[in-house]
Amino acid sequence: MKEINGKYYIGETAVSTLAEKYGTPIYVYDEEKIRENYRRALNAFLKYYPDFRFFYAIKACNNPAIASILKSEGAGIDAASVNEILLAKYIGLGGEDVMFSGNFLSDDDIVQGLESGVIFNLDDPSILPRVLKYGRPEIISFRVNPGYGKSNVGDFVTNAGPNAKFGVHPEQVLDAYASARNAGIKRFGAHMMPGSCITDYEYFPFITGLLMDIIGSVRKKLGIEFEFIDIGGGLGIPYRDGEASLDLDKAAAETAKMFSAKIKEYGMKAPRLMMEPARYFVGNAGYIIGKVHSIKNSYKKIIGADVGMNVIARPVLYGAYHKIVFDGKDSGPREKVGLCGQLCENTDYWIKERELPANIAEGDIFAIENAGAYGFVMSYQYNGRLRPAEVLVKGKKHFLIRKPEEFKDLVKNTKIPRHLQ
Ligand code: LLP
Repeated sequence: MKEINGKYYIGETAVSTLAEKYGTPIYVYDEEKIRENYRRALNAFLKYYPDFRFFYAIKACNNPAIASILKSEGAGIDAASVNEILLAKYIGLGGEDVMFSGNFLSDDDIVQGLESGVIFNLDDPSILPRVLKYGRPEIISFRVNPGYGKSNVGDFVTNAGPNAKFGVHPEQVLDAYASARNAGIKRFGAHMMPGSCITDYEYFPFITGLLMDIIGSVRKKLGIEFEFIDIGGGLGIPYRDGEASLDLDKAAAETAKMFSAKIKEYGMKAPRLMMEPARYFVGNAGYIIGKVHSIKNSYKKIIGADVGMNVIARPVLYGAYHKIVFDGKDSGPREKVGLCGQLCENTDYWIKERELPANIAEGDIFAIENAGAYGFVMSYQYNGRLRPAEVLVKGKKHFLIRKPEEFKDLVKNTKIPRHLQ
């Protein structure tokens, strides 16, 4: 986002223009910024390990237009559910361009996953016999829980280690691959996803070493080769002013160094190195534009806006911080105030106290930063509030990429039984 004379711009488009044209609240994404983020990350890893590929974890922002940007850059899709496989298919990606990393799968998930022909990434050895009951995937990978996880978002988003629900225990990994091999499967990969939003570059080579020690020993004992090793997502972004950003070059250089050293140590045929980030690509390329509707001076001064926890769940769910800028108001005096949405629940008072412009008035437009990842996808209809529109900006142009919900969407799938009519 750029600031010119106090007015904010996404790409070359004024925030005020977007608010006027599409109303508020809206999610807005900057196409050029997504492409820049993707290319910066890809070039860093390609520089140190040429057989490298990204899959985009579509859960973070599942708008098909956004996923299509990443597809056009060459990304595959990491799908957490059958519907995310279908989303990938919807934008023309399938087969081995899609990885199915669901957990605690139902039989229905398994059947549909098999039908789709994507890479099956199993979260537990117990899933394998259930998969084999219905068919035999061409390629199998297991999601390993290497016993260590980390996240800047906090414990809830730490996806590995003893308190995580994900992944295969290191002591079960050998048997898991042995069973797959004994069932006639000939192509293998390995996967982990120990954490999200990590800005400390040393984490990436460290977890790579953990996984490679587990997989390297499987390779030695079973004599199987791995076509790919996927070290998950987790490339972090700073949310607060002054917070350090990830040193991508060091993360890539050290990860590749560790990866290559372990390949050598275990005498492996060099696998493709894969990652499946999401936040790094779309996080800082997405904004929520909102409007101040009402200001209350009661026990405390509270700015009431149309962006509540129904539109941005992260602050109340994880205590996450999102920067807010006020169009045309940021250069003046500031004061400590609260900010809330319009839901009938006090959790919705999602900023209890923050220095914001002292002259905020009804009708003012603001933008919430770093809302591109885990934003819209985690919005919901509580209190009869409807999910916002999504808009894509490309320079001076802008496109509606998801219509706002209307009242009919609130009742769309409901039925009133005859005796209640
Ligand atoms: N791969 C798998 C299997 C995942 O579960 C995730 C995210 C990713 C990749 C992408 O991770 P990233 O590059 O974005 O760190 N709702 C939380 C984040 C939950 C992460 C879930 N898994 C938040 O708002 O911070």
